[in-house]
Amino acid sequence: MSQSTVKPTSVELRAEGLLLEVLTAGAAVRRLEVTDDGLPVGIVLGHADPDTYVTDGGYLGATIGRFGNRIAGARFDLDGETHELTANEGTTTLHGGADGFDHRTWTVVDRDDTSVTFGLHSPDGDQGFPGALDVTVTYAVEPGRVRIDYTAVSDRDTVVNLTNHSYFNLDGEGSGPVDDHELRLSSRGFTPTDALLIPTGEVRHVDGTPFDFRRPRRIGEALSHPDEQLTHGKGIDHNFVVAGAGLRHVATLRGASGRTLVVESDQPGVQVYTGAHFDGTVIGTSGTAYGPRAGIALETQGFPDAPHHADFPTTVLRAGMEHRTTTVWRLG
Ligand code: BGC
Repeated sequence: MSQSTVKPTSVELRAEGLLLEVLTAGAAVRRLEVTDDGLPVGIVLGHADPDTYVTDGGYLGATIGRFGNRIAGARFDLDGETHELTANEGTTTLHGGADGFDHRTWTVVDRDDTSVTFGLHSPDGDQGFPGALDVTVTYAVEPGRVRIDYTAVSDRDTVVNLTNHSYFNLDGEGSGPVDDHELRLSSRGFTPTDALLIPTGEVRHVDGTPFDFRRPRRIGEALSHPDEQLTHGKGIDHNFVVAGAGLRHVATLRGASGRTLVVESDQPGVQVYTGAHFDGTVIGTSGTAYGPRAGIALETQGFPDAPHHADFPTTVLRAGMEHRTTTVWRLG
């Protein structure tokens, strides 16, 4: 299903003071630039070479599916039937499996100056997931705003968890670690994990932990506290429970430069990942090698491993029903 010989097509969307470049490979965001004092500043991590997205995208900016984050043991039961998935991280299924949606060449199904819709057909049994699934993702820009809308319809009951895996660095892509960024989250709880980064099922109050971002907090400061949870993913790599319902505030990120990003979503969770794994092998759009914490991912999502946790918000999509979800990035 991967079409490793297909060159990615690039689509550039522009609004005043903003440029978004997205690719057919992985329906991935490669560049997001804002204009500051007349000069463009890239604020997401992207690969220097667009072809990298086809072969070795490392999830940068990609559309993640069918199931964002982890499913323990690469299997789940739905309505009494067990589904065996492809495992791509030891015995775990990460981000939809070995050949996830980030590896696919998406089709441009609609486009104008400020928006593009990509479509993907995922056949029944793809990576072990039940049901033929038709997915769209639409990127739309206007001044100071990017909106991402997803739709998915399956012909059998299944599970779905779609997200975008952009890493942000508001001080400029390639400018170094995000330690001096301040983060605020609309979250009183997070889901602790085991050493394999699988949620234990507990929802823990953030009070008194490095995970308390109810007031703006420097990333570097939060990471400096001893907490067993910070050892599993070498930093923060956790799902936070987003308070409230409907399209609402999820996160506010502020760089040392003063540039801000506000994330809004209708999803129940957000994966905050402080990018520990960057080790200099990924070369960014400005030609700089990305080191640890070169960017922070804020992945709006259903909870990781939800198919194994009856008390987590459901990620089940019933046959013939339309799954719709929206995430907005506001840039200041
Ligand atoms: C996960 C990390 C993983 C990363 C891969 C994140 O969504 O939470 O554990 O390493 O994706 O880029």
